[in-house]
Amino acid sequence: MSVRCATEQGLLAPSMMCVNYRSLEKELELMENLGIPYLHMDVMDGQFVPNFTLGPDFMKCVSKMCNIPLDIHMMVMNPERHLHAFPIKEGDIVSIHYESTVHVQRVLQQVKELGAKAYIALNPATPLNVLDYLYDIIDGVLIMTVNPGFAGQKLVPATLEKIAQCREYLDAKGRTDVLIEVDGNVSVENAKKMRAHGADIFVGGTSGMFTGGAIDPEKCKLLAEAVR
Ligand code: DX5
Ligand code: ZN
Repeated sequence: MSVRCATEQGLLAPSMMCVNYRSLEKELELMENLGIPYLHMDVMDGQFVPNFTLGPDFMKCVSKMCNIPLDIHMMVMNPERHLHAFPIKEGDIVSIHYESTVHVQRVLQQVKELGAKAYIALNPATPLNVLDYLYDIIDGVLIMTVNPGFAGQKLVPATLEKIAQCREYLDAKGRTDVLIEVDGNVSVENAKKMRAHGADIFVGGTSGMFTGGAIDPEKCKLLAEAVR
């Protein structure tokens, strides 16, 4: 299978919940040298998902150490109540889970008013028709290829076809500009399939970019090659 992508080549976004906090500055320098375009910040509140991870203070600290734009993945209930706490700036991405609030359209608008790109995040079981009244305002779709909450999980097989169906849906609505990001078990083998199904941005965690808690340049090069 080979589906049209919105990007000339795939983009890598390391999942910062996998980073080695003891050598954060060195890791960030390495990512800058590798030309990493986004830092994927997994935010978890223990309610939307049964886990806790990165918060605003960590992001502010990272933004002081490097200029790579943030790709903030809000796995939190009622994100509209919390956006103001995060250092969201022009050029960042903010992904809001469709399943996390009754005010989806409003919070996506809030993201855009902050100057960031507004992505809608969909859990594996969430159907694409939820985009029917959102496709006109979104900049991207984050397709969860695992159930959100933890690194180290296995791909949900049905999500591969969902990527292709999402590309087809967006193109049929005239939104050929909207990017598709995939998140979860992005190994080299899975990334090739995800790219062939239309994915543009790849969240790399333990499966594809990190070894023993540190960013692995060799793994990153293999992953970048796989999604070229
Ligand atoms: C899961 C996280 C993913 C995860 C990716 O909720 O959003 O970003 O950290 O890591 P691996 O590659 O281990 O699935
Ligand atoms: Zn994520």
